[in-house]
Amino acid sequence: MERKKHRLSSKSLSLTESVIREMSREAVKYGAVNLGQGFPDFAAPEAIKQRAMEAIAADHNQYAVTWGVKEFRDAIAVKSERFLGLDVDPENEITVTCGSTEGMIAAMLACVDKGDEVILFEPFYENYAPDAILSDATPVHVPLYEDANGAWYFERDEMRAAFNERTKAIIICNPNNPTGKVFTREELEFIGDLCKEFDALCFTDEIYEHIIYGVDGVVETPHICMATLDGMKDRTVVVNSLSKTYSVTGWRVGYVIAPPDITGAVRKVHDFLTVGAANCLQHAGAFAMEFPESYYADLQAEYQRKRDFIVPVLKEAGFRCGFPEGAYYVMTDVNDFGFANDIDFTRHLIREIGVAVVPGSSFYNDKAKGSQKVRFCFCKKDETLEAAAERLARLPG
Ligand SMILES: Cc1ncc(COP(=O)(O)O)c(C=O)c1O
Repeated sequence: MERKKHRLSSKSLSLTESVIREMSREAVKYGAVNLGQGFPDFAAPEAIKQRAMEAIAADHNQYAVTWGVKEFRDAIAVKSERFLGLDVDPENEITVTCGSTEGMIAAMLACVDKGDEVILFEPFYENYAPDAILSDATPVHVPLYEDANGAWYFERDEMRAAFNERTKAIIICNPNNPTGKVFTREELEFIGDLCKEFDALCFTDEIYEHIIYGVDGVVETPHICMATLDGMKDRTVVVNSLSKTYSVTGWRVGYVIAPPDITGAVRKVHDFLTVGAANCLQHAGAFAMEFPESYYADLQAEYQRKRDFIVPVLKEAGFRCGFPEGAYYVMTDVNDFGFANDIDFTRHLIREIGVAVVPGSSFYNDKAKGSQKVRFCFCKKDETLEAAAERLARLPG
């Protein structure tokens, strides 16, 4: 008798292909200017490329210590103290991972059991939903709303109602992808107090920590790391990476800062998932961590210039949006264009106008909530943004 078994796991079947990565492929196919996926199309800093090449020449080519090259962990600790005011023990509280992507899933696998509830803001960065599936978490969504000025906020009673005895953790992304929100101290304290009350953890994705904007050179909402709030270090897992700060998204080098017991568990998961991140690139990362203040100020100024170029272009073309406070995305409302949904609109934009974006529904559990939104990213060369502006001007306003 022929025996038939399912070849694919129910987990893999419940994952859908990344819409963001799919749009990048569509952009190539139709020759569209890609303002979809968040990766720079300009060169990475010369000095760190040089350092990476030197590290290969110096034969840092074999497995590194699984939880990260010591010099890199030491440099992460020094930088975390310098910029966040966070005192971290590089021996027991840092794990180097293959990007923050691996950092987040390793942290969730290390902490979350089947049926544990994990709170997510909605809209959320696309990967958090599959992270919940892979770690058997039950996601609980708390909405972020946009006010008339394009600023994003959450309702405190809805956040409180999301916490209960089964809550294991909340994931925050600060500065936020896709909304550009930077959480205020009061908001973080409110969330932190709920974590303490319900004995929950906070996984905080801070890969845009250095990309925040201001008015006349003064940052309106500074980035605050959740782990630095009173009583929060012991229940916070900080996920970060080289990708956005040093414009090396393809290097796949990130790190997790967590209390020693969680770090021990993250290191085990990480070891069996990947063994380790690229040794030579960790050496270059150690060097990058020592960049002077001016590097970060220049990065911020450069992205502020790009933001201040693209947002008026989008408004002029008929998109409704505000100025993001951080990260390098603009979440827009496309109701005025009269398309049935974000997927149809995105297809039109890629194929007929020649600009690729990410459909808003990919950031929502309840797809209807994102069905009149699309996300633009602006971490691109000036000429790329200018080409996009020219094309967007063709949209019937
Ligand atoms: C919020 C957020 N987290 C994580 C990532 C992935 O980062 P990494 O390259 O470090 O894996 C991205 C990439 O766009 C992101 O926007």
